[in-house]
Amino acid sequence: MRLHLLLIISATLVMFACNPKPQVAPVIDKDPAIERKVEDLLSKMTLDEKIGQMTQLSIDVMWDREARRAGTFKFDEAILDSVIVKYKVGSILNIPGVAQTPERWNEIISVLQQKSIGATGIPCLYGLDQNHGASYTMGAIMFPQPINMAASFNRDLVHEAAVITAYETRASSVPWTFNPTLDLGRDPRWSRLWENYGEDAFVNAEMGRVATLGMQGKDPNHVGRENIAVCVKHYMGYGVPVSGKDRTPAIISPSDLRDKHFAPYLASIQAGALSIMVNSGSVNGVPVHANYQLLTQWLKEELNWDGLIVTDWADINNLFNREKVAANKKEAIKMAINAGIDMSMDPYSWDFCVLLKELVEEGQVSMERIDDAARRVLRLKFRLGLFEESLHDPKSYPLFGSTEHYNVAVKAAEESMILLKNKDNILPLAKGTKILVTGPNANSMRTLNGGWTYTWQGEMTDIFTGEYNTLLEGLAAKFGAGNIIYEPGVTYKDGANWWEENTPEIDKAVSAAAKADVIVVCVGENSYCETPGNLTDLTMSANQRELVKALAKTGKPIVLVLNQGRPRIIKDIEPLASAIVYTLLPGNAGGDAFANLISGEANFSGKLPFTYPLEVNSLTTYDYKVSEESDTMEGAYNYNASRSLQWPFGYGLSYTTFRYGDLKVNKENFTADDELVFEVEVTNTGKVKGKEAVLLYSTDLVASIVPDARRLRAFEKVELEPGQTRTVKLALKGKDLAFVGFDGKWILEEGDFEINVGDKKLTLRCTKTKKWDTPNR
Ligand code: BGC
Repeated sequence: MRLHLLLIISATLVMFACNPKPQVAPVIDKDPAIERKVEDLLSKMTLDEKIGQMTQLSIDVMWDREARRAGTFKFDEAILDSVIVKYKVGSILNIPGVAQTPERWNEIISVLQQKSIGATGIPCLYGLDQNHGASYTMGAIMFPQPINMAASFNRDLVHEAAVITAYETRASSVPWTFNPTLDLGRDPRWSRLWENYGEDAFVNAEMGRVATLGMQGKDPNHVGRENIAVCVKHYMGYGVPVSGKDRTPAIISPSDLRDKHFAPYLASIQAGALSIMVNSGSVNGVPVHANYQLLTQWLKEELNWDGLIVTDWADINNLFNREKVAANKKEAIKMAINAGIDMSMDPYSWDFCVLLKELVEEGQVSMERIDDAARRVLRLKFRLGLFEESLHDPKSYPLFGSTEHYNVAVKAAEESMILLKNKDNILPLAKGTKILVTGPNANSMRTLNGGWTYTWQGEMTDIFTGEYNTLLEGLAAKFGAGNIIYEPGVTYKDGANWWEENTPEIDKAVSAAAKADVIVVCVGENSYCETPGNLTDLTMSANQRELVKALAKTGKPIVLVLNQGRPRIIKDIEPLASAIVYTLLPGNAGGDAFANLISGEANFSGKLPFTYPLEVNSLTTYDYKVSEESDTMEGAYNYNASRSLQWPFGYGLSYTTFRYGDLKVNKENFTADDELVFEVEVTNTGKVKGKEAVLLYSTDLVASIVPDARRLRAFEKVELEPGQTRTVKLALKGKDLAFVGFDGKWILEEGDFEINVGDKKLTLRCTKTKKWDTPNR
């Protein structure tokens, strides 16, 4: 009896010593049956097998050389054996050069599954970048890019698109996507701005949450056969490189890191996100792949999250190749695995397997860490049902690429385009208007889609999209080919760098304008993606601006169409346009949606999800620090500060107008746990039906660190018939108005808050300060 008691006491002490932190409730409730299967399997696995599960390679390495030269895909049998049988690699990613049909994906994946199951009994986990729809599956619906989905401010559309993306991905027997992308696109120079939901933490968090639910479904333990696992990326701080260039260092205040950059990942994890990919770069001098605090403490310990952390492309290698925090690959592996990485995306080489085994044998990486990582990989495979069914017959996905799915993409494209200017209501254009369509983006499916479309850089898009309409084709279909004159004036160079243009033929476009009533000039950028998209000048190309200037001299009204992933500076040509439409990157449905909008069959409702800068040296975000805008001080010197914008975050016009009634709230004094319900009446005061995204901002009037000018705290989109009024309710918790202080803790401070919705505002008072250091769950 005494011995028994002693055993219990010492077991408790050991538990306490090993696990000094109080265990928080797990963010995903485990399924005990799955956990038993995982433990059973793990207990029978060798070290080689466990390390194999922690390894991910690109399909490129197994591509037969002859077949590659011929432009087809075939496995190199010897390499396939080496990878899957000898090294027992558990995960493969990427396309063999170009997207494959669901049938072809099934053939490819069935070879991998047979080999994997034969070698270890464990199915292979295949992952693809299905970044705007199943964009690496031939024949799938290409939705607008995430930046457009953000501009729609429509959660339902994001959810619907995610459901379809999952369905069309699973039709290829691919169970895993490297998406949603929730970096905050807060630097307009960054080449990946359009891969995210814009500059705001709350929009990214909300869209990330619904995208996660849409793709994975509601039960993360049992991801259905029409769902896939998400891999939220790129955790975290990737979107604000100091240089503006991809994969270069970010410097982020502790407060912003915890409050803003962490928020979208937290929201996705709370919605059940099963895996996370890590930011390729460094934050505050520490490469995120080597950051124990961000990977292990914030995710695995504080949230008690049992998902999988995978590196980005070759990023363990980058710890020594690029970041120079490790002297060689072995040291880099030790650093990353001990920081909390569970799977290495080491696309071309499997020496990770050899070196990690050495590290374990030398005691530099513990067996517990290996077990933890392998367990997370196995758990994901069980949750995905891969042990029961690792192949899916494309025929059982009859809605793949259907009109039903396409119609959702058209709606999303319509709701995501932004009307930035409409002088004298020049838009919509009446039937019968003679239109000159010009500019390098007028007749290109490539520019409508951007990168991550059929290929990484999206350069082959026009080959596969004959059935879809470009902007020009959309207008011709809507207004009649006889009313359309096409003369591009400026064109991109084929087979060259994305920014290269041919010698312009501006005169030809100017002459063609003589026969037109209106000129629709489609300018912007050609497709690019990641580091190749870096640029040194955010100003729009000189040729394109010259084209607009020359056309303006004709005196014909100009509709300027911006088809670009990031806001290129257009200060000198903006005044020349009567109307401006920002299409962003609307995908394959972009041409149809554009024509619907220009003709007035559909109405604009998109709003800018980032701040459009006026000048290159004036880059800012809507949640800037209040001291970035200040009046002149009294006295001899002018110590003022000001920002200059082309258009603010949240800006976007409609063919109708909306009036906001008085803003009301259920309580004027509040504390952290109170629910605040705001109500505002919105009336459509124009003549056509329209949708309005109602945005609620808060301003903390005085705070212990310099406050942000405003923060978006809630949004809802409503549709209104002409003359119709609806009461829009926006609810939040008192604690949602908190910020993270310099000490890394959340704090809601006693004092006044101003709340703004439309042109209405009110003031609320927080009556009690509250501070907490666990994430706002
Ligand atoms: C990108 C990721 C992507 C990965 C796999 C990397 O270069 O940064 O966003 O998921 O490649 O394709």
